[in-house]
Amino acid sequence: MENNNLTPAPSMPRIGDVAPDFTSMTTFGELNFHEYIGDSWTVLFSHPADFTPVCTTEMSGFALDKDWFTERNTKLMGLSIDSIHAHIAWVNNVKKNTGVLFDFPIIADIDMSVSKLYGMLQPGESETAAVRAVFFIDPSKKIRLIMYYPLNVGRSMPEIKRVLEALQTSDTHKVAMPLNWTPGEQVIVPPPKTVEGMLEREASDYDMVDFYLAKKSL
Ligand code: BEZ
Repeated sequence: MENNNLTPAPSMPRIGDVAPDFTSMTTFGELNFHEYIGDSWTVLFSHPADFTPVCTTEMSGFALDKDWFTERNTKLMGLSIDSIHAHIAWVNNVKKNTGVLFDFPIIADIDMSVSKLYGMLQPGESETAAVRAVFFIDPSKKIRLIMYYPLNVGRSMPEIKRVLEALQTSDTHKVAMPLNWTPGEQVIVPPPKTVEGMLEREASDYDMVDFYLAKKSL
């Protein structure tokens, strides 16, 4: 049945799209997003508001794991619909209170342009604050994975790190990851696409349920 009260969904970035480009003021000065990505992976994430408790735990989590991301050729960039002055005051406050420095650019998206471009502003959740979004962007600037969380649920850093390693491992080894995969566990070998491939697969020493579900260790 048609519901005429529903607002049509705006176009949203999708997995496989080129990450929309923008130039914006950040806590590291004015930055162009595609230039910032360069040859790295990039995790672009939004938070609803500076000086709020859940956001402070999340941003501190990213800051504490910055070296982990750097070791995996991955840059970080945050965003909220706050002014650059609010960002700087919050960075200063958290540093003074906890010793943690948010040492990555945070976009001051005061005109909401980047939030709208990335579908981070979801009016059914909030008209004025970005939801908790995470975009995983590869060095070719393609969006590879998207997470959206509501305002009242903080994200999982182990899951953010797990999916980044899964994407990178998948690219390097041309394999897929099964349910609940974590680094070091067996991976899925892509199923054969020909009868010849199927016969070869049956004769292989992969850990196999059947020819289309085969795992191997890396
Ligand atoms: C928080 O980060 O604590 C928060 C921000 C916006 C709405 C609700 C919670």
